Amino acid sequence: MNSFTIRREAEADIPAIRDLTSRAFVDKPYSRQREAAIVERLRDADALTFSFMAVKGASLVGHIAASAVKISDGTGNWFGVGPISVAPERQGEGIGSLLMQRALQELREMGAAGAVSVGDPTFLGRFDFVDAPDLRLPGMDPQYFRALPLADTTLPTGTVWYHDAFVV
Ligand SMILES: CC(C)(COP(=O)(O)OP(=O)(O)OC[C@H]1O[C@@H](n2cnc3c(N)ncnc32)[C@H](O)[C@@H]1OP(=O)(O)O)[C@@H](O)C(=O)NCCC(=O)NCCS
Repeated sequence: MNSFTIRREAEADIPAIRDLTSRAFVDKPYSRQREAAIVERLRDADALTFSFMAVKGASLVGHIAASAVKISDGTGNWFGVGPISVAPERQGEGIGSLLMQRALQELREMGAAGAVSVGDPTFLGRFDFVDAPDLRLPGMDPQYFRALPLADTTLPTGTVWYHDAFVV
């Protein structure tokens, strides 16, 4: 039986997170393969809202991060969920779903107003992320950009800025 534990990252996990994140995004059309660096830059800037790992035994098999975003209409308390990575050889086993559910639970418990994410629209749609035509992430093909109101009941409008750590 597959059983995975979700826990917060610790200092000793940093090299494994870097390696996993690098491997997960190879060949993804919405990626410039900068995600491993982004996670490190967020951590270094003390801007990781959270960083959860999925582990099986002693092995890291998945990771998800979140950080605050800014929105040009002044809406506050929204967060970018991601990067999310599952080890290529363990994809399709439910690990990504567990990580996303844990991340959204954490955001709800924090009282977050909403979340945005970049990635596969089918995967994100499973967690009720929706197309947000009035919300724009500069430089990103809109088909890969999705939003999910949490405490807010409506989608904001305007431009979204992730933390500077994403500019690599
Ligand atoms: C996307 C990702 C995080 C999903 O993790 P995972 O552990 O493979 O996902 P799960 O096993 O929980 O899959 C949940 C469902 O989503 C589907 N799914 C998973 N990855 C998908 C993808 N890239 N495109 C479409 N559907 C996907 C699965 O088929 C599964 O559906 P099913 O239950 O009907 O079979 C993982 O594939 C990954 O690391 N991808 C590379 C990095 C990446 O693209 N990150 C951004 C993603 S938004």
